[in-house]
Amino acid sequence: MLIEKNKSLRDYNTFGINAMARAFVSIKSTEELNALLKSYRPSDLFILGGGSNILLTSSLDKLVVHINLKGISLISETDETVEVEVQAGENWHEFVMFCVDNDYGGVENLSLIPGNTGTAPIQNIGAYGVELKDVFISCKAVHMKSREMKEFTGEDCEFGYRDSVFKKSLKGQYIITSVRFRLTKKNHILHTSYGAISDVLSERNIESPTIRDVSDAVIDIRRSKLPDPDELGNSGSFFKNPVLGADEFKTFHERFPESPFYELSSTAFKVPAGWLIEQAGFKGKRFGDAGIHEKQALVLVNFGGASGKDILDVARRIQKRVKVLFDIDIEPEVNVI
Ligand code: EPU
Repeated sequence: MLIEKNKSLRDYNTFGINAMARAFVSIKSTEELNALLKSYRPSDLFILGGGSNILLTSSLDKLVVHINLKGISLISETDETVEVEVQAGENWHEFVMFCVDNDYGGVENLSLIPGNTGTAPIQNIGAYGVELKDVFISCKAVHMKSREMKEFTGEDCEFGYRDSVFKKSLKGQYIITSVRFRLTKKNHILHTSYGAISDVLSERNIESPTIRDVSDAVIDIRRSKLPDPDELGNSGSFFKNPVLGADEFKTFHERFPESPFYELSSTAFKVPAGWLIEQAGFKGKRFGDAGIHEKQALVLVNFGGASGKDILDVARRIQKRVKVLFDIDIEPEVNVI
C-alpha cells in the first residue's frame, strides 16, 4: 500500500479542481481497506470514489482513500434474469457497457453517467426514467469504526430521489465495497417513453429497440446536452430539482404557468431547476473560469483554472437569484467539501 504525500487531486475529481490532499492511497482489496481502517481514525480519512459528485473548495488535511476495488462477477442466473456483483471501484459506464455487450437489461438508460459503481447507491443515480434502485439487490459496506461488514438490502438503503440512508443517518459511516444488481436476460423492460429517447429512436426508424439501441440513444442525448468532464470540468447536475408541496406549487404555478413540472403525488411537485436557472438568465454565463453550461443550466463548469470556491460563488449567486425571482430554494446535489 503506497501512501503518497501532498498529492494534487486534479485527476481525481471530474470538476478538475486542483486541490491538494495531505496524503493519498489507492485501495485495491478489502484486506488493504481493513488494514487501513485499523491504523486510522475515520475522522482522519476522506473516502473518494469516482470523484464525479464532489466540489473541493479547499485542500484536504486528511488521508484520501481512493476506492479502487475491481471486478464484475456473475453470482447466479435463471432463464430470465442474472445476478451480478460489481466491485465498488468499477467505473459505472464501463459496467453499463458490460451489460449492453452481454444483452443484460436494466441499466441502459443510465449509460454515460460519470462516477464509480460503489458510489452510485449513495445518491441513487438516475436518468431518463430509471434509477439505480430499480435494478439494485444489495450492497456490501464496511463500517469505518467497527470494521464490520454489513449487507444492505434496497429497503435498508431507504432510496429516494438522489438520496439514500448513506446521505442521511449513516452519512460518513460506511464504505461501500460492492453492489449486486438483478438484470434481465430476455423480455427486457425498456423505458423509452422519455421524450428525448423516443424522438431519437423514431428519427432512426427503430420500432423494436434493443438494449444497445436505447443505450446508444441515451449516449447521444447526453453527449448533445452535457459536457464531457475530460474536455470541460463538471459534475453533472450541480443542483437537485426542487420538490414543492401542494400550496407552494399552487402559488408558483399561478405565477409561472409556463414552467414545466412533474406531479410526483398530489402533495409533491418537482420543478426543473434547469428551467429556473435559465429563466434567471444564467445559462451559458461565465464568471472568470467558472460558469454555467450553455446547453444545460443545471450543470456548472470549470473552464480550466477555477477553484472550488469560484464554482461555489457562482452556485450561491444562482441560489440567491432563484430565491428572489421564484421564492424557491435550490440545493446542491453535489457534495461541497
Ligand atoms: N430545462 C430548461 N433549461 C435548461 C435545462 C432544462 O428549461 O437549461 C428544462 C427542460 O426544457 C425540461 C426540464 O427542464 O423541460 C427537464 O430537463 P431535462 O429533461 O434535461 O432534465 P433535468 O431535470 O434538467 C434530470 C437529471 C439529469 C438527467 C436528466 C434526464 C437531476 C438533478 N438531473 O435533469 O441527471 O440526466 O434528468 O433524466 O435530477 C445528473 O444527475 O448529473 C444528471 C445529468
